[in-house]
Amino acid sequence: MAKRALVTGSSSGIGEATVRLFRSHGWDVLAVARREDRLAALADETGATWFRADVTSDDDMAALRAHVESTGPLHALVNNAGGAFGLDSVETGSIDDWQRMFDVNVLGTKRALSALLPSLRRGADEAGSGDIVTITSIAGHIAYENGGGYNAAKFAQHAVVAALRLELNGEPLRVIEIAPGMVKTDFSLVRFAGDQERADAVYAGVEAPLTADDIAEAVVHAVELPPHVNLDLVTVKPVAQAQPYKLARGPLSTR
Ligand SMILES: NC(=O)c1ccc[n+]([C@@H]2O[C@H](COP(=O)([O-])OP(=O)(O)OC[C@H]3O[C@@H](n4cnc5c(N)ncnc54)[C@H](OP(=O)(O)O)[C@@H]3O)[C@@H](O)[C@H]2O)c1
Repeated sequence: MAKRALVTGSSSGIGEATVRLFRSHGWDVLAVARREDRLAALADETGATWFRADVTSDDDMAALRAHVESTGPLHALVNNAGGAFGLDSVETGSIDDWQRMFDVNVLGTKRALSALLPSLRRGADEAGSGDIVTITSIAGHIAYENGGGYNAAKFAQHAVVAALRLELNGEPLRVIEIAPGMVKTDFSLVRFAGDQERADAVYAGVEAPLTADDIAEAVVHAVELPPHVNLDLVTVKPVAQAQPYKLARGPLSTR
């Protein structure tokens, strides 16, 4: 029987690419996000199933839990839903943006874990192991100017993952954190509330930013390794990026 993965935030970007890759490796996949039209199109294309849920809603996550429990065990959970809102200093940043970032990245991850750990345990009892992969960010490890709200949320999400790994020690459940650097997705478009010009400027001149497919490869690779091998923390950056704030623009060439 095929194993089943659930990917949150799978209507675009990294989550969508991860659904595609899991499906191409023969996994059953439950794609979760808020935009139903995009989930339905992805399901039609890949044969994944989908469920509309907002990770910031307790009611939606209770409904997701019930749906998953009634449709079988779970072998991998990918906590990917998240993102940034705004790029402002600590002094001037909007409290509303900070609250939204905390809610989706940190509490969204916590809600998904509380809702889905019982199903992951069922899967691990059946298959011998299970996986929890969380997409944090290099912004969850290194702060940058005007990133304070997103840094705070992603540092906190990293802390959730670290505590969880301690709490699950002794169970056959791997806790994997993948911390990407710059990935060219809708991330910046969302961060800048639909301002395409501002979003494009983020990637301008950067030779080969990461793609969503690159991160999907890391996720599926980590999950498909032998079950005793835990890629605890994986940092993935484009070669042009040495730190969140140290980015080469223009062609890479030897000096
Ligand atoms: N792109 C980067 O440079 C980068 C770097 C490091 C880390 N990351 C992290 O990677 C993850 C994926 O981002 P991405 O780059 O793929 O951006 P993206 O294309 O904007 O995808 C974000 C996904 O999250 C979903 N989402 C947002 N809020 C949600 C909510 N409340 N409930 C359920 N789903 C929600 C969105 O779907 P709906 O709007 O349909 O709900 C969408 O599918 C995020 O956690 C982000 O912080 C991105």
